[in-house]
Amino acid sequence: MNEAAFAPQDAAALLRWYVDHGLDEAIGEEAIDRFALPPPAAVAAALPPAATAPAAPTPIRAPIAAPVVRPPVPLESPQLAEDARAVAQQANTIAELEEAVRAFEGCALKRTAKNTVFSDGVAGAPVMIVGEAPGADEDRLGKPFVGVSGQLMDRMFSAIGMSRERDLYITNILFWRPPGNRTPTLAEQAICLAFTRRHIELAKPKIVVLAGGTAVKAVLNTTEGITRLRGKWTSLTLDDGSEVPALPTFHPAYLLRTPASKRQSWVDLLSLDKRLKELGVR
Ligand code: URA
Repeated sequence: MNEAAFAPQDAAALLRWYVDHGLDEAIGEEAIDRFALPPPAAVAAALPPAATAPAAPTPIRAPIAAPVVRPPVPLESPQLAEDARAVAQQANTIAELEEAVRAFEGCALKRTAKNTVFSDGVAGAPVMIVGEAPGADEDRLGKPFVGVSGQLMDRMFSAIGMSRERDLYITNILFWRPPGNRTPTLAEQAICLAFTRRHIELAKPKIVVLAGGTAVKAVLNTTEGITRLRGKWTSLTLDDGSEVPALPTFHPAYLLRTPASKRQSWVDLLSLDKRLKELGVR
């Protein structure tokens, strides 16, 4: 790149582009050209000789710096999900559950997050929205769905006369932001889900709205994709034996990327509105 032509506003635009795409964290001080690095010893040993021979392409650029080593993160075991379940079961109110989540040390995501993001809206509201995980804005402010996708969600619900100040209770299956907004691992999901299931039991919503494929798969324990499931009412059976109607729908972040799908989400919202009226809630 011609350095003289690289104006400061270009750098600002590039940074904004990174942030818009979820890259809001510097993992290391310097970029690493991983194509220029030799394969790790274990990988090299597993490769056939031809692939390990140093006939590898000449590095375009020498590696600039060694990666910054993070403190080791413990391997998450199924036992942690069991521990979470046992802790969650002991909570008899939402306040107790929130306290238990904030004190829980069994999910490694907590170490990299700035805040625990538990809920927003009205506890006990007729509709409980369950999303995936906090993003950068939620992590910073400690509340779910407060970034651009949350703002879209607010506008969509306001179109059917609902707001988080009056009729909605909002949470995620994860209480801590995965670094760089990566998809949470199944182990992370299982640990936090134990709390989220108890959260739903204690909040006793009339309807649960599951926003996005990850939340749908985790809460409904299914491998079916959101495209197939959205708009289809189902019944969620909780551990205390109670049943709650659940409506899978697209995640607002997906709608921001694929505005044409808003039409289907509008159909889902109308279906929600109708169901609430049938239940005598509105
Ligand atoms: N996406 C989610 O799934 N949850 C949030 O809280 C924010 C963005």
